[in-house]
Amino acid sequence: MDDARAVAGRVAIVTGAGGGLGRAESLALARAGARLVLNDLPGDAVDAVAGQIAAAGGQAVVAAGDVAEWPTGEQLLATALERYGRLDILVNNAGVLRDRMIFTMSEQDWDLVIRVHLRGHFVTTRLATAYWRQQANAAGHPVYARIVNTSSEAFLLGPAGQPNYAAAKAGITALTVTTARGCSRYGVRANAICPRARTAMTAELMGPAPAGPVDPLAPEHVAPLVVYLASPAAETINGEVFVVHGGVAAVMDPPRVRSVFRADTADGMWTLDSVHAALGPSFGTGAPSAGFGCQDTLELATETIGFPRQLHVEPARSAPSRRMSQRAGGYMDATMVRP
Ligand SMILES: NC(=O)c1ccc[n+]([C@@H]2O[C@H](COP(=O)([O-])OP(=O)(O)OC[C@H]3O[C@@H](n4cnc5c(N)ncnc54)[C@H](O)[C@@H]3O)[C@@H](O)[C@H]2O)c1
Repeated sequence: MDDARAVAGRVAIVTGAGGGLGRAESLALARAGARLVLNDLPGDAVDAVAGQIAAAGGQAVVAAGDVAEWPTGEQLLATALERYGRLDILVNNAGVLRDRMIFTMSEQDWDLVIRVHLRGHFVTTRLATAYWRQQANAAGHPVYARIVNTSSEAFLLGPAGQPNYAAAKAGITALTVTTARGCSRYGVRANAICPRARTAMTAELMGPAPAGPVDPLAPEHVAPLVVYLASPAAETINGEVFVVHGGVAAVMDPPRVRSVFRADTADGMWTLDSVHAALGPSFGTGAPSAGFGCQDTLELATETIGFPRQLHVEPARSAPSRRMSQRAGGYMDATMVRP
């Protein structure tokens, strides 16, 4: 393999490695020569992935635990250093869903999803970047360091039944950008993926794999981009967000300014009347605007995996049904919407 894509001998932590995308990413990293520290909640699944890697001649050790707990993060880093003497790559992937409409969501379901996804990404990132910063300062030059975070198109689309999940993924995207900017000088390259894959998380929605040699939604089709972002080839890729699935990868533009309004007052400052005078003509009097969401990536899913072309926009004040919410983008990560 070209040196630019080689991760041979590199040491990688993967969270949520017991199934789905985390498992596929761990196996792909191991196949590319990385030595792994695998995290998931304690159980047979993550042990089985470590066994599979070892059986194929690779190296993997399990450090199980809740990734949102600080001691789990410490244990992951300590395991990498004690077992392999270094850490080069961090793949933050662990996640859960607790889908509800905002008006029926429990405090517990909000807290759990924000905690596992956003705090889970924070804990490992905080500890890994402190380690890399210390290594870079001691060496007097940047070190090799790669972070691949797992966001979701949910943060772009704002699916009605996933307010906790969409908010967590928006937070992970922002965390990725701040990490990329704050740690670049130490050698860290931090990027985020928004994957789509047929996993336990999406099983109910996506159903069984189609007959035929290639399942475009197999998690294995996401893993090569993750390995690439973990490799030397990603030296010049930092703070980016990629949508990836079924043989397609799109790099997202950041949001852009659509219109600028100015206060038409004597001192140029806003009054209630001047806000209305400025915004009124742009927003009109009809149905509410679609708002901040980005729907561009839906077209890619139509091309590659046959998802519906039309994004359904719920009419104002209607009671959201499960079907409508799925069509409104919830199908990306989940089906369950319980009004
Ligand atoms: N599958 C998709 O289409 C899709 C789409 C967008 C984003 N994602 C994201 O990809 C990531 C992986 O999802 P997946 O589809 O493979 O789901 P999955 O349910 O198959 O895998 C998630 C893994 O995370 C583990 N996990 C859950 N809570 C944990 C915790 N507190 N500590 C450690 N591990 C924990 C689970 O045990 C599981 O093995 C998630 O962050 C998910 O939000 C998936």
